[in-house]
Amino acid sequence: MDAIRVRGGKRLVGTIPVSGAKNAALPILCATLLSDGESTLRNVPALRDIDTTAALLEFMGRKVSCAPPVVTVGSRGPVRPEAPYEFVKQMRASVLVLGPLLARYGKVRVSLPGGCQIGTRPVDQHLKGLEALGATIQLSHGYIHAECGRLKGAEIVFDMPTVTGTENLMMAAALAKGRTTLVNCAEEPEVEELGRVLNKMGARVEGAGTHVMHIEGRDELDPFDHAVIPDRIEAGTYMVAAAMTRGDVLVDGAPLEHLEALVAKLKQAGVEVSREEGGVRVRVTDELRGVDVTTAPHPGFPTDMQAQLMTLMTLAKGKSVITETIFENRFMHVPELVRMGASIDVHGHTAVVTGVDSLEGASVMATDLRASASLVVAGLVASGETEVRRVYHLDRGYERMEAKLSRVGADIERVRGAEG
Ligand code: EPZ
Repeated sequence: MDAIRVRGGKRLVGTIPVSGAKNAALPILCATLLSDGESTLRNVPALRDIDTTAALLEFMGRKVSCAPPVVTVGSRGPVRPEAPYEFVKQMRASVLVLGPLLARYGKVRVSLPGGCQIGTRPVDQHLKGLEALGATIQLSHGYIHAECGRLKGAEIVFDMPTVTGTENLMMAAALAKGRTTLVNCAEEPEVEELGRVLNKMGARVEGAGTHVMHIEGRDELDPFDHAVIPDRIEAGTYMVAAAMTRGDVLVDGAPLEHLEALVAKLKQAGVEVSREEGGVRVRVTDELRGVDVTTAPHPGFPTDMQAQLMTLMTLAKGKSVITETIFENRFMHVPELVRMGASIDVHGHTAVVTGVDSLEGASVMATDLRASASLVVAGLVASGETEVRRVYHLDRGYERMEAKLSRVGADIERVRGAEG
């Protein structure tokens, strides 16, 4: 397994380009199952999760050319409407094929995603919604077996905002007969982006990105040609990295309009953030101050930025109270940061960070995608060398992170085949 080795102490200065949004590209690639024609998706990041999705679509019998930033998906004969455990265990988001496959083929077998490091990750809302559209669902031997005739539009109220749950139901409803209303939807920009693509395919989706959506289903949908939005979490991660090193960085292509909650907290902490030349410029000239953060569904503070902001707070003056409300176990970065000299006390879903003067380099273990990124960010300022192991987690969601960081001055390298 590869590791990333960082020697701390270098200010980041220069421009970091933002890649396309992983969590927009994944559902959109699954939406290609809704049409027979050849669809093209552009600005796709080169990530493991994209490769996994391409491999799953090929396994199903689709004709895929995965050459980021361009991915095309077309048909090559009959589709096998199955997503085996071998794929789903690599990437939970494979469950996003459930809605399109069911709507299109009426009979699917998809492995239950199971949990992961950050939580149990249930899919009950996905299944409840599909049953409301007329599907019969059975769970057996770790698989979801779903069958239906033509899905019929219905009103569905989610118990809580779920990003992939909303997306699965949007795709199913796009081929259902009649009108579907989704209430208590996830409002993330990636959900809104999927709505744009489904409309390009001929569906009529109103309200994507808000808490209520209306979808008029069609008998069939057209292929699309679409360029995906920039990745707000990647952008936010590099904004924090710039602030951490007290650097001066233009995060080029950063979607400021999707980062309002993060930007508000960074400014409150004393980070200078300004819109500049189609991106976001980040500088720190004063002392950083501790801020309190509670994660929430969009437009609240994103859970996917919690670890990165906590890392920044380890060197801020005073205390920060960070509360994680979305996932039940998303503090795995805490013990690793503590080994680097941070002062953090965890009480259930709340972490109290007390700022320290400096961090020390150490060998640390990546556990989940965003925790891995936060450890690399910590290594940028820690004294000496930090080695982040098991960076396959990082490669799932960050395109060429070490290249992007070294180009703005970081002393960082990838160590091939390091011990796990
Ligand atoms: C999406 O996961 C993202 N993944 C996650 O990003 C992100 O952290 C998460 O949304 C929250 O923003 C993709 O988009 C591929 P949820 P998802 O369903 O859809 C509960 C990353 O780092 N819930 O919005 O799986 C669930 O337990 C990844 O890129 C149910 O109870 O998350 C959680 O507490 C990590 N039943 C809450 O809802 C359900 O049927 C939100 O989960 C579905 C969800």
